[in-house]
Order: sequence, then structure tokens, then C-alpha cells
Amino acid sequence: MKKLFSVLLLVGLLTKGLLAGEGMWIPMLLNSLNEKEMQSMGMRITADDIYSVNHSSLKDAIVLFGRGCTAEIVSDQGLLFTNHHCGYGEIQKQSSLEHDYLTNGFWAMNKSEELPNPGLTVTMLMEMEDVTDLALTGVTNDMTEAQRKDKIAVNNKAITDKAKERSGFDAEVRSFYQDNQYYLLYTQTFKDIRLVGAPPSVIGKFGGDTDNWMWPRHTGDFSMFRIYVGKDNKPADYNAGNIPYKPAYHLPVSLKGVEEGDFTFVYGYPARTSEYLPSYAVDLIAEKSNPHRINLRQSRLDIYGKYAANDPKVRIQYASKDAGVANGWKKMIGESKGIERMNGVEIKQTEEFEFTKWATISKSEATNYTGLIPAFEKAYLRLEPLKIAADFQMEAGMGIELFNFASKFKVLVDESAKANADGKKMEELVKNLQNQTTTFFKDYHQPIDREVATELISYYIQNQSVDFRPTFLNSINTQSKNTINDYVNKLFDKSIFVSEEAVNALLTDFTMKKVKKIVNDPAYQIVMNLKDFSEKQIQPSVKVLNSAIDSLQRVYMKAQMEMRKDERFYPDANFSLRIAYGNVEGFYPADAVYYDYYTTLDGIIEKDNPEILDYKVDDKLKQLYKDKDFGRFADKEGKMRVAFAATNHTTGGNSGSPVLNADGQMIGINFDRCWEGTMSDLMYDPKMCRNISADVRYMLFIIDKYAGAGHLIDEMTLIQ
Ligand code: ARG
Ligand code: ASP
Repeated sequence: MKKLFSVLLLVGLLTKGLLAGEGMWIPMLLNSLNEKEMQSMGMRITADDIYSVNHSSLKDAIVLFGRGCTAEIVSDQGLLFTNHHCGYGEIQKQSSLEHDYLTNGFWAMNKSEELPNPGLTVTMLMEMEDVTDLALTGVTNDMTEAQRKDKIAVNNKAITDKAKERSGFDAEVRSFYQDNQYYLLYTQTFKDIRLVGAPPSVIGKFGGDTDNWMWPRHTGDFSMFRIYVGKDNKPADYNAGNIPYKPAYHLPVSLKGVEEGDFTFVYGYPARTSEYLPSYAVDLIAEKSNPHRINLRQSRLDIYGKYAANDPKVRIQYASKDAGVANGWKKMIGESKGIERMNGVEIKQTEEFEFTKWATISKSEATNYTGLIPAFEKAYLRLEPLKIAADFQMEAGMGIELFNFASKFKVLVDESAKANADGKKMEELVKNLQNQTTTFFKDYHQPIDREVATELISYYIQNQSVDFRPTFLNSINTQSKNTINDYVNKLFDKSIFVSEEAVNALLTDFTMKKVKKIVNDPAYQIVMNLKDFSEKQIQPSVKVLNSAIDSLQRVYMKAQMEMRKDERFYPDANFSLRIAYGNVEGFYPADAVYYDYYTTLDGIIEKDNPEILDYKVDDKLKQLYKDKDFGRFADKEGKMRVAFAATNHTTGGNSGSPVLNADGQMIGINFDRCWEGTMSDLMYDPKMCRNISADVRYMLFIIDKYAGAGHLIDEMTLIQ
């Protein structure tokens, strides 16, 4: 503990404005910005070992998985680890009643059993280059925002065209630090990715939504895939004759485990953060927008839950919808609470006060910065009602399944309105809608939607002023819930879009004449009213304001970097490869409550509860626990560790990222954050922000002892 404290002190001294653990850093800049600090925290490798273009490095083992997660290569045959929740879609698509891999798990016992996944890709960063000067060539201060954007787009097109031609790789220029810096990214995308292994959901999704966003956690959230390539080791479309990819580097996997205070880092693809927003924006998100969205989602979850409790069929029908609504709902609650707990808005206000003071005192260029904060204030004042109106349109309006479904038929109305309406196109649209209809009604329970509609419409009317809501709401008798309920019932009784039969009758032998049936449908009319309201009254102004805010944000970022010259800044996440580093550490989530830094299999057995679906424990796992059959995967005390918490600054997209130790060996896989720290996308708090990772020893234990797929471990480079 003493050692940890002195390390923290040192880090504090080194970084002043930054907090221990905070930051998502650009790998190619570690050398100048972070290496010393990382080593002072315990790292025994160099920045060059992590990222290099001259020789193989850790970077060569990290890939973007699909479009939203990270994965890492752990063998010289292109074997990948990612999260179970990242491979979920693929595992589901491969599943059928005879082969229910979601329920039972899947393990390829040899390469011929590995399953191809059409459409799934992984992307590898080959090289990165600062092209700021080139991107900004010809950009001058007197340009309008639009002129500036156009000029940069032209420059970047030239840069990427040349880069592609020269390298043979894909290339893209991406903006960093709010359009102040530009980097050219060379990438390679692999297209033949096969499923190798997945634990059953009772392990890979253990804890489910009950434990989601929370520590302590016991989820074995991993799955395995393999990259296949052509005979030349280059990306190729799926072909049975493709061979496993031979990577420039694969991560060694350590069995040594983690102890409190250990240095760790996370290497992956964080999607989006907004760490440099002004107080007005943080206030808008945390205190104005989130609360309504939370309430509206809460209503839906309550209703789903009520019906699901009484009807097992409904529970399955609404499981996935519930998970989606709940993931965002829980995240927003944690985020708003976190901002409030750390007085986030006040902290930002103090920073802005200091900033304006600095801008006023310092002469030179900085003098034109004094108007920034008032300009933000003005812009956000105007944005606020529009943002809330857009939230309501999405969460309250489109949260009603009937409206959402009816809106899909607009394509038919549009196509038929064309002077040269195309019969073939029409046929395609109809076929597509027929498929959507089957999918929709498979999981649709009308009584739920009626109740949801009554609740959401009541909330909409009570909480949105007439100026900022669609006109259909004004025609509703709002005397009481009952009158609103009457309105909803009439609507549902009249609309064809709640009946699979009626919709199928509409689509069978569809002709232009039938378009009237859509246009005259009361639910369709309402959803068009909702859409119209958004497209005409909300979005145009939002677009203008957001563009103005973007340019303020660019100047504010630049100005902050000038004001705090001696500090390091990390760019907001933008789905590019980053490094976050910190220490393995527990935390105090509440007064007198301490959460230890790791969980064990004991905790899974403790949670075992057949009444709660999320806490069903696998029988074979119970047996292994009873037999204490942990092999070489147990910790020093003979316990089976499952997950651990650390201070790495992560966000969505970091799921599946490897967690590495001081020697750059894999010790875990990142999959979530603790609830108390979910405001880290806006503001990081070292006391509360923890990333959650599955311990790699638990993953190997499941592969070896549970699944009997030890041949996969034999492929890896294990550090004993
Ligand atoms: N909260 C995690 C993330 O944002 C995991 C979500 C998947 N798990 C779940 N139980 N829904 O992606
Ligand atoms: N669960 C997130 C993901 O899937 C990670 C996070 O938000 O911490 O990327």
C-alpha cells in the first residue's frame, strides 16, 4: 500500500492536471508523452515495444473486431480473443434449435470445425502518421467554417489517395483534439474470420443485466475466433482453402496473475468520449437530458418486467429489447449520479473561470479567447430545448413499437410517389418488409405496447411544452390517464400495424392502390407527424448549432493547450487505437463500503440462484468447483480468480481489449466499467472509475477444464 501511495504521489506530480489512470493515449506518441510515467508506475518494457513501425510490436496483435469491439491475436496461427458480448451476434447467427451455441457453448475441436461468419471483419492498424500540416494546407483564419471544412476534405482526399497508392493498404485521415490535429491511419481489413470457441451464456453472460455495469462481477465474458487469409498471408474473402493468418506478433499469455497495485495497460479501440466539454454541455447531458431519458426507459422496463414475470414466452420475446433499453438506462443513471457526486458541473465552471481570467490577462493571440465561454453559454442555451425535444421524439415517440414499425412503411409511400415508380424496386421493398413483419411480430406483445404507449404519451404531454412537441399530441384529451388510455386504445384498435394478418394482407399482391391504406392508417399518420416535427422543426437548427459548437470546441481545445503548456492532453476517443494505463485497485463505492480488486469462483457459487435467470450456475462448473479442479490456473491460495478491477480509463469499444502487465503479457480481457465510474466518458474520477476485466486464468480454465479444448491453449505462448 505504501509503495502504491508513493507511486500515486509521483504520478500526481508528473501530471498536475491529469488524474492517475486518466487518459487514452495515441500509441505512436507514448515515447515522448508517457513512457517515463509508465515505467515509473512499474512498466518494464518500452514505448517502442508497444508501438513500432520498424519492427514487430504489441500493436501487431491488436485489432478492431467487427465495428464496435476490440480483439487480440494470441497465437502464431491468428487465434483471437474478444468478449462473449462482442461475438454474441455471430454466436447467435450460428445457433439453431439443434445447435444452440448460445445456450450450450461452442468449441471447435480442430480447424475444420471452425465456423465462417459472412460479413464479420477485423481491422489492423499498420501505421500512423501525423499529417496535420498537410491537412491544414491553405486553411486560413478568415475562412468560414464551411470553407474550412471543404478545404480540409479536399486535402485529406489527396493525402489518402496518395497513401493508398503508395502502400497498398487502406488509408484514412482522422481528426484528433477537436479538429486541431490530423493523423493518417494505414489499415488492413481481414474478411475471413471464423468462430473457434464460446462458453455457454451461463458463463459468458453470467450476471446478465442484473450485474451489467457493476462491480463485483463474475462474467466469463470471452469468445474465440481465428483470422484466415490467402496463401500469401494477405486478407482474402472467405474461401475454404484459406489458411490461418501468421501475425507479425501475438500476445504472450501470463499465468502469473495480478496483485493490488500492479501496473496494467489496456490496448484497444475506445469509441467516443467528450472530456473537453464546457460546463453547459455537461449540465445539459447529466442534469437535463439523461433524467427524462432515464424516466422514459424506466417506464418501459417496468412494463416489460411486469409482463415478463407472468409469461415465460413474453420474457423471451422481450429479453433482447429489455437488454438494449436497460444497458443505456443503467449507464445514464450511473453517469448522472457520477457527475453529481464529483460536482462535475462546478469543477468545469471553475476551470472556465480560470480560463477566462487567463484569456483576459494574457495579451497576444489569446485575447480573442475571452468570448469563448459566453459563446458556449449562448449556444447551449439555444440547443437545450432542441436537444430535449429530440430526446422525447426518440425515447417517447419512437419508443412505442407500433410507431417504430409503422414508420418502416414510408419507403413504399415514397417509392409510389415517384413519377417513374419502379415495379422491380417496389417488389424488393415489399419482400424486405415481409421479412421485417415476420421478425417484428415474432417478438411483439400488443398489451405491452398499449401500456407503454399510454405511459410514454402521458409523460410526453406532461413534460414537453406545446412549442417543442409534435402537433398530434394536442388533439389528445389529457384530462386523465384514462382519457389518454382511451385514445391509445382507439388508435391500436384502428391501426393495421398491430396485426400480422392485416399487414401481410396489405403486402400480399401489393399494388399502388394499396398505398392509400398505409397513408390513411392513424398510427402511420402519427409517426409521420413525429418525423416531420423532427425533420422540420428540430434537426435543421440542431445542425446549425452543432456546427457552431464544433468550431468553438476546436478553438477552446487549442486555447486550453496554450494555457496549460506544460501539461499533457489526450485526445477524445474516436475509434482509433489507444493505450490506457493504470493500476489494479479496489475502491470505496460508498461511505464505509470497500470493494476488493478481484472476484473468485466462490462468488459465482454464492450468487447461484435458480429463481434469477442471470444467476443460474452451470452444473459442470459447480462440479469443477467442488473438486477444486483448477489445475495450473489457481492463484497462490488455490482460488480460482474470475475478474479484476483497475484504474484504466476505458469506454465503449474497449470491450475485448487485452489487459497487459508490466512485461506486456496478457493478464485479462476488458469488458465493462463499474457503475460508480460511468461518467468517465465526460469526466474521469480516479477514486471511482474502474475498468472490469475477466482474469485470463479463468478464461484458460474454462477452455481447458470446462470445455476440454486444451489444444487451443497449446497454440498460445504461456508465461508460467
Ligand atoms: N455494459 C457493457 C457494455 O456497455 C456490456 C453490455 C453487454 N452485457 C449485458 N448484460 N447487456 O457494452
Ligand atoms: N461494455 C463496453 C463495451 O462493450 C465497455 C465500456 O463501456 O466500458 O465496449
